[in-house]
Amino acid sequence: MEQEIRKDTPIKFEIVKKYVEIYNPRNISLGNTRIISKIVDNIENDTGEKFIRMEMGVPGINPSEIGINAEINALKNNVAGIYPPVDGIPPLKNEISRFAKLFLNVDISPDNCVPTVGSLNGSYAAFMVTGRRNKEKNTILFIDPGFPVHKKLVHMLGFRQESFDVNNYRGIKLKEKLAEKLKNGNIAAILYSNPNNPTWICFTEEELKIIADLAKEHDVIVIEDLAYFAMDFRKDYSHPGIPPFQPTIANYMDEYILLISGSKSFSYAGQRIGILILSEKLTKTKFPDLLRFYSNDILSNALIYETIFLTTAGVPHSIQYGFADILKAANDGDYAFVDDVRIYGEKAKIMKKIFTDNGFKIVYDLDGNEPIADGFYFTVSFPGLQGDELSEILLYYGISSIPLSSTGSLHTEGIRACVSLVRKEQFPLLEKRLNLFSEHFTHV
Ligand SMILES: Cc1ncc(COP(=O)(O)O)c(C=O)c1O
Repeated sequence: MEQEIRKDTPIKFEIVKKYVEIYNPRNISLGNTRIISKIVDNIENDTGEKFIRMEMGVPGINPSEIGINAEINALKNNVAGIYPPVDGIPPLKNEISRFAKLFLNVDISPDNCVPTVGSLNGSYAAFMVTGRRNKEKNTILFIDPGFPVHKKLVHMLGFRQESFDVNNYRGIKLKEKLAEKLKNGNIAAILYSNPNNPTWICFTEEELKIIADLAKEHDVIVIEDLAYFAMDFRKDYSHPGIPPFQPTIANYMDEYILLISGSKSFSYAGQRIGILILSEKLTKTKFPDLLRFYSNDILSNALIYETIFLTTAGVPHSIQYGFADILKAANDGDYAFVDDVRIYGEKAKIMKKIFTDNGFKIVYDLDGNEPIADGFYFTVSFPGLQGDELSEILLYYGISSIPLSSTGSLHTEGIRACVSLVRKEQFPLLEKRLNLFSEHFTHV
């Protein structure tokens, strides 16, 4: 690192330096969240100082009792002794289908609604089948910035990948860029998250339509990652059956896979539950090239009964009952799940102000002409520093984050901040540490 760090930082210089070196600064540059967390755990243990932990997207809210009680009842009824159906228990499939209608305004039959071991498992299965359905199409296109883990998955699966930072191609400009990326015919699927991890940008309806139109034209399946379902708090998506609804590609095309996570919107990360929704058309279309790897040429069969079955053997039985009851309560209007997570937006608003008051800039700041929502993540930069330097230096000030460069962002000067683990009582400490940081680095 080029920047000189002062020795009188809030967290003992030698201890931070020791752990950064043990775990290799390269892991900070790569945004390896598990290793950054390990560095911070060690520093906290050795110094007794608590960090402002913004590195990992871990939900920080207690889940609803509804799911917990339903799981307990299911376990008492001996579901632990029986294999779960790999495509999901009927009550869960029905509630997912109702959820799709009530919160996305999309008609999907329960047959096309499948639980997965977290949405990450859903993306694994989706990449695997979409990347193998046509031997001419072996590449996954990421609309970046994105979740680095998805890229690792695609790499592990042996597919090619392409990406572009959407920031320079918002609105109508997206059309030209996507057309350029799709013109060679090698793209099997497009993946993006909406709201977006790490930037919290949200695609406009115009942009979703552009993606859908081009995907249709070039025979590309869209994998829409709705891990942060209904968490664009600028709009109220919390009332079942009442507009506005969570925006989705499903309104514009018929070859898509939607991934919804139990982890963030429902604070149910520990039980590893996600939802995969397949469009009706994809369940019927035959892809003969799948037979190179599967005994089924029907995509839904290859996805559910081969990929998901052979990788996880199904989602554990009790959580299927737990999540079915959570969704039922949400669908019936008895559990306002969005209200439980609004706190992330409230925290982001205050934290962004603390950062900008101390000389930081919000890197991704607009959706069209509208300021982006306050939510689970935000992005900041500090003049004169690259994101990997900034992430590393902030450790000496007791603040952890990841550099944006690790997410496919061209804004190499930025870092991603996750608000979930930061407690409101820590805001004065964040302010104090950033005051000092800004005093030390403003001249840079
Ligand atoms: C964009 C995105 N997709 C998927 C996931 C994985 O979610 P899950 O916990 O359901 O596997 C995450 C988790 O952080 C995420 O940020």
